[in-house]
Amino acid sequence: MSLTTTAASINCVSSPLSAVDTDLLVVPWFESEGPSAVDGLDAASGGEIARALASKEFSGKTFELFAASVTDRSWRARRLVLIGAGSPVDDRGELVRQLAAAAGISVRNRRAERAGFVLRGRGDVAELAQATAEGLTLSEFNVGMYKTGDPAPPGAPAWTIALLQQPPDILTRARAAIDRGRLLAECSNLARELANEPGNTLTPREFARRAAAIAADGGVTVEILDEDRIAQLGMGLLLGVARGSSEPPRLMVFRHDPPGAPAGPVLGLVGKGITFDTGGISIKPADGMERMKDDMAGGAAVACAMRAISLLQAPIRVIGVVPATENMPGGRAIKPGDILKSAAGKTVEVINTDAEGRLILGDGLWYAQQLGATHLVDVATLTGAVVVALGKSTSGLFGTPPEWVEHIRRVANRAGDRVWPMPLFDDYKEQLKSEIADFTNTGGRPAGSITAALFLKEFAGGRPWAHIDIAGTAWAEEAKPFMPKGPTGVAVRTLAELAFTSGEWNFRG
Ligand code: BES
Ligand code: MN
Ligand code: ZN
Repeated sequence: MSLTTTAASINCVSSPLSAVDTDLLVVPWFESEGPSAVDGLDAASGGEIARALASKEFSGKTFELFAASVTDRSWRARRLVLIGAGSPVDDRGELVRQLAAAAGISVRNRRAERAGFVLRGRGDVAELAQATAEGLTLSEFNVGMYKTGDPAPPGAPAWTIALLQQPPDILTRARAAIDRGRLLAECSNLARELANEPGNTLTPREFARRAAAIAADGGVTVEILDEDRIAQLGMGLLLGVARGSSEPPRLMVFRHDPPGAPAGPVLGLVGKGITFDTGGISIKPADGMERMKDDMAGGAAVACAMRAISLLQAPIRVIGVVPATENMPGGRAIKPGDILKSAAGKTVEVINTDAEGRLILGDGLWYAQQLGATHLVDVATLTGAVVVALGKSTSGLFGTPPEWVEHIRRVANRAGDRVWPMPLFDDYKEQLKSEIADFTNTGGRPAGSITAALFLKEFAGGRPWAHIDIAGTAWAEEAKPFMPKGPTGVAVRTLAELAFTSGEWNFRG
């Protein structure tokens, strides 16, 4: 397995386009623009751009592509691809990230060995440069990891990002931002690789081994707790879910403890690590069940974000906790009606064994606090209900206090992981009432993702806590110009960037 930084770094220049030393130049093009919008470009194409715009062969609609040769021999690049940028939008960062990813996919298919991406438009150059590097890097992910027959997928070109006439200090800032974006997106791709891995190769033990390698190679301190340690800690929820499987559970603990960091705050990241979710005794229908191999995407996001946090040297202490198990209907599996006791001491009546994610996260959230976490974020493919509510492009965001949730929302949206806040009114808690135990693990169909989040809240110990439900966003069911079908790596960049924002956590928990 590639541990990463095998990828070459992305070059960055500020020079006239004619001087950009590359084979193929990608230029974003807005819908409203005339042929002379970019100095010298139309002439270099021998008038092809003006012709295509006039005939409406190309109009600049988002992700539309138009290829032309560079006929001007004084230019270094030999080919040109315009990529439609649509009409100007508010969120330039996300547009640029997606354009760069779409350009990356298209350039790979054109088998270019060297390519340039031209940064255009208003906005903070460093921010846009980082988003561009992220998009280009995301386009390097290969979904067909186990294909033997087909020719190998086209490799990635050596990239140059071209800034149009920027002063040296901006160029320096852009270069740093590009390195940062490259690294963050590489970590996203590592998480995608893990989520793409099927249940038979990525058992809880193998997941722990690989996540540990990814994090430790980045300088993170890693500890893997086995089933005996998990039992000693009293994690009855995690052990309960694991009972139905012949694969033993694992608990991954990641620590980023930079020398000189303040004692607090301590960010605690908790990720759901179900390596396959059959539903257990409350078994899922066969149709589409194969998708449940990615039920560890939240855990992968935490492990890979920890790598980024360490490599980028976040200034605060960060703890990552990933409980990992299969959810299987074995002969010793938990049954509806069973009572489990959590490490935090609370008892749970299991109504539906398919609501297993909240169980293992309950023990995970408790353990993160035991290790000193003061601010909590969990990430999980938790509920089908969040897909009904928000669809496939937006993750559900829950938590308390509102300032913490609002902060996470800003960080996530900036990082390109779109989220939307959902309410946690106390009334919904009625749905988790149990006659026999402290609460049940399901609240029925209404507000399914809210009751799931309220269950988690019981384990957040009153600390600032946010929960990101990525059930709809972890896996792309349809290919987009900027994203193939398959794992998306959602939340990796959000969690990593969050570790650099503690200066803004000035609210009362
Ligand atoms: N892993 C699933 C949630 C899920 C559903 C992820 C669809 C991705 C796509 C989770 O463990 C689950 O089974 N949730 C149940 C909860 C229910 C039994 C209360 C669900 O959403 O149906
Ligand atoms: Mn389930
Ligand atoms: Zn699940």
